[in-house]
Order: sequence, then structure tokens, then C-alpha cells
Amino acid sequence: MQSGEFWTERKVAWYRRALRRSDFAPKVLGAIAPLVEECETALDVGAGCGALAIPLARRLRRVTALEPAPAMAKALAEEARERGLANLEIMEAAWGDVPLRPHDLVLCAHVGHLLQRDSPFLRQAPTFALKGVALVRDATGSDDKFFFSELYPVLLGRPYGGPCEHEETVEGLARLGVRPTVTFIDYRSDQPFTDLAEACDFWMEYMGLEGEPARAFLRDFLAARLVREGEEWIAPYAKRAAVIWWRR
Ligand SMILES: C[S@@+](CC[C@H](N)C(=O)[O-])C[C@H]1O[C@@H](n2cnc3c(N)ncnc32)[C@H](O)[C@@H]1O
Repeated sequence: MQSGEFWTERKVAWYRRALRRSDFAPKVLGAIAPLVEECETALDVGAGCGALAIPLARRLRRVTALEPAPAMAKALAEEARERGLANLEIMEAAWGDVPLRPHDLVLCAHVGHLLQRDSPFLRQAPTFALKGVALVRDATGSDDKFFFSELYPVLLGRPYGGPCEHEETVEGLARLGVRPTVTFIDYRSDQPFTDLAEACDFWMEYMGLEGEPARAFLRDFLAARLVREGEEWIAPYAKRAAVIWWRR
């Protein structure tokens, strides 16, 4: 599935809402602070709705965000506009589809297939980086993602594949002769919902479920697992990521 088909407007809205309460960006940018200090420009590959591109555009002279999914690119443009960030250029394209200029920092966070062991991106990305590269991937030790390990066998009859983990990226880089610094970060990626019905929609959509029996199961399951916070229902999600970075 192309990322443009996966990232519907509704999924992007959920992603954005979770990001607003997440400490992901300060944790990542804290891990690479010595490198960011040396940079004036950054290229964020698979920038999504701007988790890192937005805070970087606040600090750096110029940021380019490469983002192929139209709904994500639209959300990112809105975020930049709301903050009056005129130094953020959005290129609605996938890696390899458009010519790119070198930037001081090349960054890529949570774009699983680009960060796989044999991905050409691992070889290509550093050639666009004047000062350094930073890659972010799930690390071993995160909580179960949105109860998927429990829910997949019950509702889909198969185990959940689990997160893509950082070791294979480090191995892929080692084959290229790159010995990066790996800094682990722990952060919150809790997902808020207005009500239980919206939470059920989230799991139905992410798991590709249909029909009332699945929805009824989820309603009972989520009523017991989500945490009430004021008017909202929160799916708690403690994440651990590896920030894999090196200087050129
Ligand atoms: C899980 S999101 C991560 C977004 C952001 N980096 C973050 O950490 O919040 C993955 C993003 O990568 C984008 N993406 C997927 N394939 C891509 C490719 N080949 N080139 C560039 N971006 C890609 C998707 O459209 C999606 O917005």
C-alpha cells in the first residue's frame, strides 16, 4: 500500500492529536543537540505532519520536508502556517522521486521501509548530508503498540508482527562502514479520543476490521483499558526509540 493511501485524513488527525501531547520532539532533538547546533539547514525525509520538521524550522534557517502522503503534507502545511514558519519548504514526494539539494542535516524518523537493513536509503541519505545524519527507529522495549499483541490474535486470528526494530538499521549501516552513535529515548505517544465510539473507529480502521461483533468486542475491551482524563479517553503508549546518528 502506498503511504498516500494508508494516511487518510482521519488517521492524520489522530496522529496530529497524539503528537500535540507527546514529548517525542524534545527527546529526539535533545539526543542530537550537539549536531543540530552545527547545522543551519535540515532535510526531513518522511516528515509526516511535522513532528520534527516544525521544531527544527523554529531553530534553523531553512528546513525541507519530503512527504509523499497528500493528507500528511496538507497537515504539515497547516502546522507551518499556524506558526508563521516561512522557512519550511514542503516537497510532496517520496525519497528518490525528486531531485534534492544537500542539507547540513538529513533526518528520517519512523519511516520503516527506508530504514530496513538493505534499504538503498542508508547508502544514499549521507550523500545529501553536509554535517550529519540522524535516523529514528523503534527500539526493543516499547509497550505493546495499542494493545495490538492482544487484539490481533482475537480479532484477526494472527499474531501482531511487532514493531520494526533499530538493530537492523545499525547492522545495515555497519555493512556500509558507518559506526553511528545510538542514543535511546523514552517518550510518551499516548493517543487521546473524544469518546469510546471514536476510539473504536481508531482500532477498526488501523486493524482493518469490519462488522458489529468486532466493534462490540472493542467497546468492552477499550472501556476497561483506556484511561479517562477530563473529557477525553486516553490510550496510554510508552515508547522507546533509538536515535542513530553520526557526523559526516
Ligand atoms: C510514521 S510516519 C512518521 C512521520 C514523522 N517522521 C514522525 O516521526 O512523526 C511515516 C511518514 O513517512 C512517509 N513516507 C513513507 N514512505 C516514504 C518515502 N518513500 N519517502 C518519504 N517519505 C515516506 C509517510 O507518508 C509518513 O508520513
